[in-house]
Amino acid sequence: MSKVSVIGAGNVGATAVYYIAEKNLADIVMVDVVEGIPQSKGLDFLHAAPLREYNVRIFGTNNIKEIAGSDVIVFTAGVARKPGMDRMDLLKINAKIAQEASAAIATYAPDAVVVVVTNPLDVICMVVLKETGFEPARVVGQAGVLDSTRFRYFIAEELGLWTGDVTAMVLGGHGDSMVPLRRYTSVSGFPIDELLDEEGVERLVERTRRGGAEVINYLKTGSAFYAPAASTVKMVESIIKDERRLLPASVYLNGEYGYKNIFLGVPVFLGAGGVRKILELPLSEDEKSALDNSARAVEEGVETLESLYEQKIL
Ligand code: LAC
Repeated sequence: MSKVSVIGAGNVGATAVYYIAEKNLADIVMVDVVEGIPQSKGLDFLHAAPLREYNVRIFGTNNIKEIAGSDVIVFTAGVARKPGMDRMDLLKINAKIAQEASAAIATYAPDAVVVVVTNPLDVICMVVLKETGFEPARVVGQAGVLDSTRFRYFIAEELGLWTGDVTAMVLGGHGDSMVPLRRYTSVSGFPIDELLDEEGVERLVERTRRGGAEVINYLKTGSAFYAPAASTVKMVESIIKDERRLLPASVYLNGEYGYKNIFLGVPVFLGAGGVRKILELPLSEDEKSALDNSARAVEEGVETLESLYEQKIL
């Protein structure tokens, strides 16, 4: 049985544990700094095991050493957005949390693949890469699967079709400038442009960009977690089963798509050991300039991060 450790037992972390258990994917350790939270949630999940028919181990703890031997670490610790906040507003506090967790990951789970979920996603990935010292293939951010699944859902809802028949790719950073690619969006192989007019697609693109904010505005006390957790577990599954699914994910780019030294959402094959390959799709001029725009937003976040290092805040 593989071992997955989820760091951060808040809504996203706990829901990820739930989905991993329901699929019997791996033994799970859930770690959180708050005393009693991971223990209570872990126990509660186990009480449900006879009914939900899972037979994986679930262990909640405050002791980060328990991540030892993990195949995958899911990093969800940190604060979430509230209404009116941008994902970048979370940078200072979440970067510090990521820094501390990364040191523990490097010490106790040196062979793991880290799936980063904490926002601002693409910048926190950079912290984890730097602070673990892992090779780039083993640090991968969850964002594109979430943004794409929202886009898929909106298209299916609009057309009155089964959601699973819609495929879509949303690239770029996990922010308002994310890049849903119309040209690579289809329903059972039929290009979306055959089924919806341009105005219709653009409306759904806009709703996708604001998908996270729409949920926050209803919830008020925090951000989305069911779809983020489901997206995370899709990635975890592809890694631990070595499925090599082609998924959009935030990965470290070293020249791919013309970018260097940033994490950005692009299509990758995810399998054992993390990112097996980055797929370089030919992009139109418009798509490339939208991706440039999104990359600039991430670069600004990385500059802020660098200033936190310079000021010795990190
Ligand atoms: C969202 C947050 C979790 O998109 O980034 O819902």
